[in-house]
Amino acid sequence: MPVSARRSLARAQCVAIGSALPEQRLTNADLARLVDTNDEWIVSRTGIRERRICAPGQGLSSLALPAAQQCLERAGVSASELDGIIVATISGDQIMPSTANLLQHQLGAGRAFAYDMANACNGFVAALSTAACFIEAGRAKRILVVGGDVMSSLVDYSDRNTCILFGDGCGALLLEAGPADGPGLVGFALRSDGSGGGELCIPSSGSALRPSPATLAAGMQYVKQNGRHVFTQAIRRMAEVCNELLGELGLTTADIDLLVPHQANLRIIEPTAQRLGLPMERVVVNIERVGNTTAGTIPLALADAWTDGRLTDGTRVLVVAFGGGLTWGASYLTWGRG
Ligand code: UT7
Repeated sequence: MPVSARRSLARAQCVAIGSALPEQRLTNADLARLVDTNDEWIVSRTGIRERRICAPGQGLSSLALPAAQQCLERAGVSASELDGIIVATISGDQIMPSTANLLQHQLGAGRAFAYDMANACNGFVAALSTAACFIEAGRAKRILVVGGDVMSSLVDYSDRNTCILFGDGCGALLLEAGPADGPGLVGFALRSDGSGGGELCIPSSGSALRPSPATLAAGMQYVKQNGRHVFTQAIRRMAEVCNELLGELGLTTADIDLLVPHQANLRIIEPTAQRLGLPMERVVVNIERVGNTTAGTIPLALADAWTDGRLTDGTRVLVVAFGGGLTWGASYLTWGRG
């Protein structure tokens, strides 16, 4: 059900954004040396030219920490002022402790609760919505919402259907309580359809199919997907949930300055914008340089838009994502402090 914050006492202001990428670039030419593919196929089918890849042994916290530090510095807020940290990811350093706990310690956020949320590519939208509810309910004043993944740890570099898509990266956004009639996260809509779980999954990644020599030999620890199915569902569902949220909030596409969509495929982003009646000038696209970073795509795109001056105080933003679960969602927000 779409949820709006119109009756709450506070609004969750989107105060600052930070991001971090690993240094190593993995280009299409590099991938063409690993699998039977080529630059022309990858660019024309996905829009991706390169992605960033962590070094072996480099976990998500190594990206989450600099992204969080940059975000807090831009906000002028110290880690000790945080009430909570939520990290959206499916590839944290470890299952336990959570990467949010590692970050809480590394930042010195002594008062903050900390936990991870796993909602695949929709993870950042889900975490942002959850954090906003704490603030709207008066249960927290400042929550750091982090989204990121080290997909190189979950991708089979002998599978050309998946390895060309994914990259590593992380972003962090600070939510801060502000006046209910001021800028901030106005509303969100979250959706899921568990019947499509097998269409995009990591078969041996939890308690059901435990790792064994047989599962490892079959590559069951890596992302598997029905690309065509995910592709068509992503376009349909992202446009649908945006329209539902706009309708719930009594808004139209004229109220959107920037669409920040999940970066899975340029051929998903363009028809989604088209269905919403938005020209590509109002859409943030960085997939060419970073690929699909799962829970990292939206904060990375927000950070790029902030850096190039497209995201400033008062900018009205619609973010939308779709991914494994199947799960999808959208949030509408006005950037900056009131
Ligand atoms: O965040 C959510 C995660 N996932 C997604 O959003 C993925 C959504 N799906 C997609 O983006 C697209 O379906 C892909 C990019 C994965 C694939 O593009 P497509 O246009 O749907 O291609 P296809 O799967 O229909 O494959 C077309 C052909 C096939 O060959 P044949 O059977 O026609 O001879 C594939 O074997 O392209 C072949 N192919 C490749 N060729 C060169 C598949 N992958 C590659 C490749 N290089 N990397």
